[in-house]
Amino acid sequence: MADTVQDPRLFRDTMGRFATGVTVLTFAVGDEVRGMTANSFTSLSLDPPLLLVCIGRDVSTFPLWERVDSFVVNILGDDQKAVSDIFARHGAPPVPDSGVAYHDGAVGAPVLDGTLAYAECRLSARYEGGDHTIVVGEVVNFSIERPNDQPLLFFAGKYRTLSPAS
Ligand SMILES: Cc1cc2nc3c(=O)[nH]c(=O)nc-3n(C[C@H](O)[C@H](O)[C@H](O)COP(=O)(O)O)c2cc1C
Repeated sequence: MADTVQDPRLFRDTMGRFATGVTVLTFAVGDEVRGMTANSFTSLSLDPPLLLVCIGRDVSTFPLWERVDSFVVNILGDDQKAVSDIFARHGAPPVPDSGVAYHDGAVGAPVLDGTLAYAECRLSARYEGGDHTIVVGEVVNFSIERPNDQPLLFFAGKYRTLSPAS
């Protein structure tokens, strides 16, 4: 029904019926080394290798995102809910103060340790998307770190884990 589109909460709940994985986006701008939990990650193109993430214009790190020239998509495993919580929090600490282990990556942004996989990107484009900005990254390096482990999932506003389909 058209009028339900006027209800933002119902819209969000409806979109939340699409199950996703959970990532932490990490990036460095000047001295600021930050992370942000995000499930808007989508792979976009194989050739060239592109992915996208959507950044809310009201998140506190948004001014940094306007200056980002590289970032990492860290794909979380089902044992990393605590990592997701750290970087979803208002006023999340900088990555070096977060207690989450990481190493320096190829593009100048930190790569979190212990993830299922990651993709390191250089900024390719930004597009307006209503109250979000769509950030497109060109993947310059990627790795599957834990090929046999299970993902952390997000569905209907809650973290989930995989169970076999019946
Ligand atoms: C599972 C999950 C997925 C999220 N996905 C996104 C996202 O794709 N884009 C976004 O802008 N914020 C997303 N958020 C919210 C940000 O993580 C959160 O607003 C931010 O870290 C806190 O920023 P603040 O300092 O502005 O409060 C997500 C949060 C959770 C828990």
